Amino acid sequence: MKIAVLAGDGIGPEVTAQAVIALETVLAGSDKLELVYAPIGGAAVSEGGDPLPEATLETARQADAILFGAAGMPGDESLPYAQRPGASLLRLRQALGLFANYRPALLFPALAQASTLKPEVINGLDMMILRELSSDVYFGEPRGERVLPSGEREGYNTMRYSESEIERIAHCAFQTARQRRKRVCSVDKANVLESMLLWRDVVTRVGTQYPDVALSHLFVDAAAMAMMRRPLDFDVIVTGNLFGDILSDLAAMMTGSIGMLPSASLNQKGKGLYEPVHGSAPDIAGHDLANPIASILSVAMMLRYSFDMAEQAERIERAVSTVLEQGLRTQDIATPGQSSVGTRAMGEAIAQAIASQA
Ligand code: NAI
Ligand code: MG
Repeated sequence: MKIAVLAGDGIGPEVTAQAVIALETVLAGSDKLELVYAPIGGAAVSEGGDPLPEATLETARQADAILFGAAGMPGDESLPYAQRPGASLLRLRQALGLFANYRPALLFPALAQASTLKPEVINGLDMMILRELSSDVYFGEPRGERVLPSGEREGYNTMRYSESEIERIAHCAFQTARQRRKRVCSVDKANVLESMLLWRDVVTRVGTQYPDVALSHLFVDAAAMAMMRRPLDFDVIVTGNLFGDILSDLAAMMTGSIGMLPSASLNQKGKGLYEPVHGSAPDIAGHDLANPIASILSVAMMLRYSFDMAEQAERIERAVSTVLEQGLRTQDIATPGQSSVGTRAMGEAIAQAIASQA
């Protein structure tokens, strides 16, 4: 198990260190684990000017899986785009062809109060948002800005999807649903967008190969309403890059803090990059305040998706649940008046909980 560890900037190294401890603890006794550290983001810029050095890219290419922290710090906007630390992740995603972005929204019962939704609406929440990551309006050509004959400026982008791009993400959705509650909801805007009409068509066609999985379709506006009203109705939601960007953040906030949310991005060969959903949090970096759980749960996703080690993944998830039940909180998930612990103490408690399961 060769894992590239790209911790990056801000709280990236702080939370990644705890995720590595969780990984080493759950694999204790195995000599298979090989960690290869490489610089990315601001850390790489200060070493050589490039936020994604060729050597780091090569390390990522050769690894079986990648554990990523965060990239980007205040002031980056003043740099040319290619040199911006934040752009390094986008370049890495493209270089590795990572097209399937899995973002679970799962409520730990102990944190029900951290949600903005009522307990009776949210208790038991366990949905998986699968966002297509490599296409759509973010990459479509033509794009740009032009001056109209009237002299007015106009900005434009192109929403596009090819059949093969839709097919591969649809297969991921149905296969994921088979491991879960066997329901896929495909979200589009087929009533007004041709690219989304094709989306619905192709997802429906792929769905016939999975007769054991129930497929439904929603327009994105209706999906946003349904997710707020009856979030427990959802199992797997599959959608394009733009709608997925928005809906995954909506689902994320139902669970409380951004410090709790892991993600996985896979390519066609099944290679994955695993990272917390949050960024480098410069406002709390260096103060042992960051919640390491998002990064620790990302390691659980890595074990499940990249190494087929569901049992070890569950042990990590159970350990997180255990410490939360015990009342341990970092500041982002503590309710007013509740005492909190730091990044390292939370990581150590989770590692201990993992170790004492055996
Ligand atoms: P952010 O996610 O870094 O922080 C947003 C807020 O959430 C902050 O108040 C922060 O303190 C809090 N927060 C984030 N993670 C937390 C954790 N683990 N525990 C407790 N609190 C946490 O987003 P922001 O502030 O918009 O961006 C900061 C920098 O990070 C920027 O340079 C941005 O470009 C970069 N960024 C990088 C990402 C990545 O590497 N995947 C994703 C998002 C932003
Ligand atoms: Mg977003």
